[in-house]
Amino acid sequence: MADKPFLSKVYDLKGDGVRDYYDKWAETYEDELTENAYATPARCAAALAATDLPKDTPILDFACGTGLSGAALHAEGFTIIDGIDLSEAMLAKARAKKIYRNLTRASADAPPPVEPNAYRAITAIGAIGPGAAPAEVIAPLIQALPTGGYFVISLNDVALDTPAFPAALDAQADSIEKVSEERGPHLPGIDVMSTVYVFRRT
Ligand SMILES: C[S@@+](CC[C@H](N)C(=O)[O-])C[C@H]1O[C@@H](n2cnc3c(N)ncnc32)[C@H](O)[C@@H]1O
Repeated sequence: MADKPFLSKVYDLKGDGVRDYYDKWAETYEDELTENAYATPARCAAALAATDLPKDTPILDFACGTGLSGAALHAEGFTIIDGIDLSEAMLAKARAKKIYRNLTRASADAPPPVEPNAYRAITAIGAIGPGAAPAEVIAPLIQALPTGGYFVISLNDVALDTPAFPAALDAQADSIEKVSEERGPHLPGIDVMSTVYVFRRT
């Protein structure tokens, strides 16, 4: 079995260490995720493509990392994709893919830098959970959407077992309605599954 030098420790990460961890992981992140058959980006992109969202609508890929999530959206035919991430080293890899219109660096100490109503779809693909962005980003991302806008979020098993993450979605119940929910493979190489949700802003 291949080594999992970063993947084996990522779910134990705590607050301040997240940016440094991804800055160091950026060079090998895609190899390690690909070796473990990272499946969630394609599932999320397919779930968004199953909605009535036009393919030329600007989409925000929140916590885009090196761009595996944006690449999956691009492969589904979405043509205008912006990305936000905490780690400059991850963003540099995303930039090199030349599939993003704009890439912006986020701060861990401030809400996500998203203009209200700038996007009719925001995705958080492998993006929110232990070892990634905190539950607190869920509310501002949803609240930045216009009525009828879509929020696509994957929660892996570790996030689903951490009460703060499902609770942050539940707390938005008055602002969203569920369009779809699908459980499936996340990282089969480490036996982790995820649930992909599509919500519509009400
Ligand atoms: C597991 S990676 C997922 C990246 C990409 N979406 C993918 O599917 O490969 C999690 C990403 O979340 C980013 N991140 C963590 N906390 C964040 C925050 N508060 N705001 C924005 N990005 C954050 C990390 O830098 C990392 O690139």
